Parts: sequence; structure tokens; C-alpha cells
Amino acid sequence: MSQDLSEALKEATKEVHAQAENVEFMKNFQKGQVTQEGFKLVMASLYHIYVALEEEIERNRENPVYSPLYFPEELHRTAALEQDMAFWYGPSWQQAIPYTAATRRYVRRLHTVGHTEPELLVAHAYTRYLGDLSGGQVLKKIAQKALDLPSSGEGLAFFTFPNIANATKFKQLYRARMNSLDMTPEVKHRVVEEAKTAFLLNIQLFEELQQLLTLDTADQRPSTPPGLQRLAGHRVPETTPTEVPRGKAALSLLPQSPVFRWVLTLSFLVATVAVGLYAI
Ligand code: HEM
Repeated sequence: MSQDLSEALKEATKEVHAQAENVEFMKNFQKGQVTQEGFKLVMASLYHIYVALEEEIERNRENPVYSPLYFPEELHRTAALEQDMAFWYGPSWQQAIPYTAATRRYVRRLHTVGHTEPELLVAHAYTRYLGDLSGGQVLKKIAQKALDLPSSGEGLAFFTFPNIANATKFKQLYRARMNSLDMTPEVKHRVVEEAKTAFLLNIQLFEELQQLLTLDTADQRPSTPPGLQRLAGHRVPETTPTEVPRGKAALSLLPQSPVFRWVLTLSFLVATVAVGLYAI
């Protein structure tokens, strides 16, 4: 792979980027169809994700596989997200914010990478920070309008980069730094694959949030607290990607195996015939 890392990343993630733009949650967002509930949910997930990402960045800040990309003043989002959490969830936000299964999965991957394959951290930083400096700026304006937020930027600190005067120029600098990393073709290949994984983790997160919001809308009984309120304040148990989403568990109490169904049907027939013979 003789291509520059920045070009390789952009090219390899084109398809997943389009996929991310087209998940229902994001499509609705772009149309200005974002509710306060949905926005709070995604912001809380981002809080957990950036805490993990920046914890791993700090751990590796002097590691040459990451150090050229260490821009805490310009990029780091944890402090901004803490402000946003206080705005959206109030002073006890730490106890109130949800922590969903897909968020947990993303966080777990970030810690694994930071501990065991720090050379892949660049993939996660690229996916989030360059995204925030690109499409993120469009999303900020949409949210401001849809949620009727003050132009002072309250509740949207995450989207504001006060130490970056020109996002386009900063992105150019960032790409040049990525290209300066000393990397074998094998590592470059793994970084590109990890960036695709990072996009997929984001996509899975949006899909999960959309499901939670849909469940919440369906939950219309007035005496029942909304699904999202049930989520808040306690941690959702971890699930694997194949697990049944919350609220849709156990569609049937009977095992779904066809063999079991056949045995059950045959037993029923034998019992019916036996009762019939006995009656005669
Ligand atoms: C509604 C959703 C989105 C919109 C409208 C959007 C829009 C954009 C636009 C217009 C650019 C190009 C900026 C440029 O070339 O300078 C861009 C770049 C980028 N976006 Fe998105 N985006 C969205 C979602 C996402 C998501 C979910 C991620 C990942 C979490 C993401 C990550 C990136 C990255 C990493 C880049 C930089 C690509 C590069 O130059 O190598 N975007 N986005």
C-alpha cells in the first residue's frame, strides 16, 4: 500500500461513510427531525465514547505511533461534553446519563486498542475528530434550529472547537501528520480496517438509538415511565451484536427448534389417538 494514509483512509471509508449518513437516525437528523430525547441520548453516548478515546490517547500521547496527532487543546472533547451533560441532564448528570449496549461495545474496543494495539488508535481519532470537524458542523446548525437552542452555543459545546480558527486548514495539518507516521504496509492495512470498524461501531450505535427511540414512542401508556427514562441512571447490561434488542426479548416462550416442534406435534397426536381408543 504505497498510498498516503490519509488518502487510503478516505477511500476505504467512503462506502461506510455513505452507510453512516443513511442510517435512519442520521437521515432524520439531517431533515431536522431530531427530538430532545434523541439528541440527549446520542450526546450521552458520545460522552462515554470520548472519555474512553481520550483516556487512551493520554496513555499513548508519547508513543510515536500516536504522538504526532496529539492535539488536546484543539481537539479533545471530554470537557465540552461534560458541560453539555450538565446542560441536558442537570447537576446530577453523572447518575442520570444512559450508557447503552452499543456505546459500551464501542468503549470496550477503544480500551482494547489503547492497551494492546495503540498503532490503531489513529483510526479511531481520525473517524471521530475529522468527522466532527466536517459533517459535525452541519449537524450543529441543524440541532440548534430543531431544538430551538440559543445561538450562544449552550448545550452544543461538543460541536464547538474554540481553538481551531480554520477547520479546513486544521484538517490539512492533521492529514499531513497522519501521513508522517512511520508505518509498515501491514500496519497501514490494519489501520484502514480499524477505521472501517470504527465507522461500523458508530452505525451500530445509531441503529440502537433509533430502536430505543422507536420503542419509546410506541410506549404510550401514560402510567408507564418512558423507556428512555428506565434507561437513565443505570447501566444497560452488555449485549453482543446478535442479541435481541431491549424490549423485544422472548417473542415466544417455546423453543424455536423444528425438531422440538415435530416431537411436540407427534406427542399430541399419539395422546389424542390414545384418548380416542380409550373412550371406545
Ligand atoms: C449526517 C451524517 C453525516 C454528514 C452529513 C457528513 C458529512 C461529511 C462531509 C460533507 C464530509 C467532507 C468534508 C471534506 O471533505 O472536507 C465528511 C467527512 C468526514 N466524515 Fe462525515 N458526515 C456524516 C456522518 C459521519 C459519521 C457518522 C462519521 C463517523 C463517525 C463521519 C466521519 C467523517 C470523516 C472521518 C470525514 C473525513 C474524511 C476525510 O477527509 O478523510 N461522518 N463528512
